[in-house]
Amino acid sequence: MENKCPAKFHNVDFCAPATHDNPYEMYDHFLEHEPLYFDEKNGVWEVFRYDDIVTIERDTETFINGEGARPNIPPDPGMIYQDGEQHSKQRALVSSGFTPRQMRKMEDRAREIVTELVDIMLHKDEVDIVEDLAAALPMRLIADMLGIPEEKRASVQQWINQIMIGGCGPDYVTDEVNDAFENFCMHHEEMYQDRISAGCKGSDLLTIWINAELNGEKLDESQLLFEHVLLNVGGAETTRSAIAGGLERLSEDPKQYHALYEDSSLIPNAVEEIIRWVCPFVNMYRTATRDYEMHGKVIKEGQMVGLTYPAANRDPRKYKDPHTFNIFRDFSKEAKHLSFGLGPHFCLGASLARLEVRLSLEEMTARVKSLRIPEGKELEYVSSSFTRGLKKFPAILEAR
Ligand code: HEM
Repeated sequence: MENKCPAKFHNVDFCAPATHDNPYEMYDHFLEHEPLYFDEKNGVWEVFRYDDIVTIERDTETFINGEGARPNIPPDPGMIYQDGEQHSKQRALVSSGFTPRQMRKMEDRAREIVTELVDIMLHKDEVDIVEDLAAALPMRLIADMLGIPEEKRASVQQWINQIMIGGCGPDYVTDEVNDAFENFCMHHEEMYQDRISAGCKGSDLLTIWINAELNGEKLDESQLLFEHVLLNVGGAETTRSAIAGGLERLSEDPKQYHALYEDSSLIPNAVEEIIRWVCPFVNMYRTATRDYEMHGKVIKEGQMVGLTYPAANRDPRKYKDPHTFNIFRDFSKEAKHLSFGLGPHFCLGASLARLEVRLSLEEMTARVKSLRIPEGKELEYVSSSFTRGLKKFPAILEAR
């Protein structure tokens, strides 16, 4: 087929945050005309189609994480940068904090927090859905899980937001990012030493990880540090984007919002549609262990390839009216979204993220009749080639 690539989609820099601001026209172009694209500036490949991402995620012999999961950024000792047995071992040690029992405990705590946050919002003339609910819930939950002292929580959130910026690529690993990482390391060390001095008797996640053992092996200190970073990175900003982005979309579509109030059994499906639609992670990268041909081009051994999840979630080969937000979408007839990835690295926190989005929707639809943006105020977005989402969502709430 003749390639009618418009000039504006030539020489695209996929690491540049602005590339992914309002990206769907561009993603549509690549989905249709250039499903495998070589980004000359960064020397990495990008794939867009749903089936291509599934193929790559499943072929773990050819496409590995061990050389890095962010573009041209070397791996660290965290589980996301491990392959095969080493990955399974580290994941099993960390997932001891995500058992069904832990999740049930988490649900009670999460419900308490959401109720309290919505109470506070209903007493305000104007709220910021991001700060007052979407960021506060995941941050408080993770902080509770990890046992982060109250006075440290705001700083941890700031450091993590900075560290996330570094995930865009080496050009974005600035002094501020390095300082934030150093501060996080000192904070981790303090938390670690506190647990050691207390004889590791607590029930917080860090203590669970220090004690966790599999076939006589434990996480070493550097693995502990990077699992700790990963949990904060993976768990906070992504869930915040899903909650805020979902409520924003529903605020523009009162019929769908009202349908959730009328019939709360629709909420779990709405959660999936929100996560498909918002798709907080722009991509994860893999490295080819051999030359691999796809769409008539060759990904060379040692080259990285980015899996553009939000493009795949709008692939018309898989979804009817992919750009329509539809809480009634039948995922059993279409395809499960790829927002949580797939295969051995499938998001470890997916059930927690789903729980947080579900509880936010349950509480909001039950107690808030409508939400609208105040006149003269605007939505603000985080510009990023790693995680995208709302930064500010000013709103006036009308109680039921
Ligand atoms: C809507 C919210 C979330 C989204 C969209 C999301 C998305 C993802 C994606 C795309 C991956 C990589 C999957 C792959 O490479 O195939 C991942 C991995 C991971 N996520 Fe999440 N995540 C979310 C929430 C969370 C939460 C709440 C936590 C924990 C508190 C978490 C912890 C992790 C961890 C530890 C990994 C690494 C898993 C591994 O390498 O085996 N995530 N997530």
